[in-house]
Amino acid sequence: MKSASTDTASTRRDRDRAAAERLFPEYSGGRPLRRIVFSEAEIAARVEAMGEEIGAHYEPGADILLLGLLKGSFVFISDLARCIRRPIHVDFLVASSYGAGTTTSGDVKLLYDPCAPVEGRHLVVVEDIVDSGTTLNRLMGALAERGPASIEVCALLHKHVAEDLDWEPRWVGFDAPREFLVGYGLDHAEDFRHLPFIASLPAE
Ligand code: PRP
Repeated sequence: MKSASTDTASTRRDRDRAAAERLFPEYSGGRPLRRIVFSEAEIAARVEAMGEEIGAHYEPGADILLLGLLKGSFVFISDLARCIRRPIHVDFLVASSYGAGTTTSGDVKLLYDPCAPVEGRHLVVVEDIVDSGTTLNRLMGALAERGPASIEVCALLHKHVAEDLDWEPRWVGFDAPREFLVGYGLDHAEDFRHLPFIASLPAE
């Protein structure tokens, strides 16, 4: 039997997801939706907790550089950075492998390298989603060769389908279902990045 507090939390979650479902046609121009996977409130609560965990993980005075993997992490890193209540710096890398499709091309292109120096600093690479793991496997080794003091991955979503992930994220927001996810930075052919929630699309 469920407790009263569990019922309240799940009722609130269902209500938030139903509200997002009503908003979806407006954001998407009437495109078909499979379902709302995480509401804005669910994401905000999880990101807040991750920010606190990251802030507490490092020694006082540690030189921390958040490195957002664009474009997908642009919303996540913006919220996450504001939940880390200690001094940090922020920079970005731009990589791309999916193009207009729903499966990785396997060809990860590094389109922009961070300007910030990396050597001797504590790097937190911020990913929106770990799917096949191709992006992380291609980029992390190259970053590690630049001599950071430490290097960790913080991923909002993890599908747990990557067979040979060389860099397991230390921080994961949510285990992700094996559906094509959009919103909160994630796209399909550049659409849907601006949704404030995470939705899934019908199978192609
Ligand atoms: C997406 C996503 C991750 C990566 C994850 O990026 O943002 O960075 O794929 O997939 P993987 O684990 O299978 O490599 P994408 O290449 O589509 O570029 P984007 O960030 O500009 O959307």
